[in-house]
Amino acid sequence: MARILVAYATKHGSTAEIAQAIGKELLAAGHAVDVMEMGTVASLGGYNAVIIGGPVYIGKMVGAGKFVRRHADELKKLPVAGFIVCLSAVSKDPSGMENTEKVLHAALSPLQPVSEAVFAGRLDPAGLSWLENWMTKKVKSPVGDFRDWTAIASWARELPAKMGI
Ligand SMILES: Cc1cc2nc3c(=O)[nH]c(=O)nc-3n(C[C@H](O)[C@H](O)[C@H](O)COP(=O)(O)O)c2cc1C
Repeated sequence: MARILVAYATKHGSTAEIAQAIGKELLAAGHAVDVMEMGTVASLGGYNAVIIGGPVYIGKMVGAGKFVRRHADELKKLPVAGFIVCLSAVSKDPSGMENTEKVLHAALSPLQPVSEAVFAGRLDPAGLSWLENWMTKKVKSPVGDFRDWTAIASWARELPAKMGI
């Protein structure tokens, strides 16, 4: 049994729920899991592996770069996996997907994650600020909950073997 941290960033909750779903799978596999907002993580002491996830806002991954910089020394010694949540994954447009993969990879650099995943997220206009609504309408963002819980669970289940834990 390993002790695993799922560290996430979120603005409107959809990434937090994905992080919880990942944590649930790892728990079911017999591991000890903490699912925490990354800003609240003081230390990685005691963890055997870390999963880092965050959403894309205006082309940038929220939270991950700062988290990696703050905990770089500990993260370099641990197996790490990363996931990014976005709406460009909804259309599955190859250039949008490629760009999002690059955004995730850059945010986690210089770490060398065992796995990097892109998940479609959720856009609920009712929960957005006036400015966020204006911005997402302007770029004609798809509206709805596009999270693929089966894909998220199956990615999570593969992680312990990939992490060697
Ligand atoms: C203001 C705003 C900007 C966004 N920018 C992008 C973007 O550049 N690329 C993208 O694929 N998705 C973008 N999204 C979609 C979010 O990544 C998606 O809604 C995600 O599920 C939000 O995660 P959260 O609920 O954890 O905050 C944007 C959403 C908002 C509201």
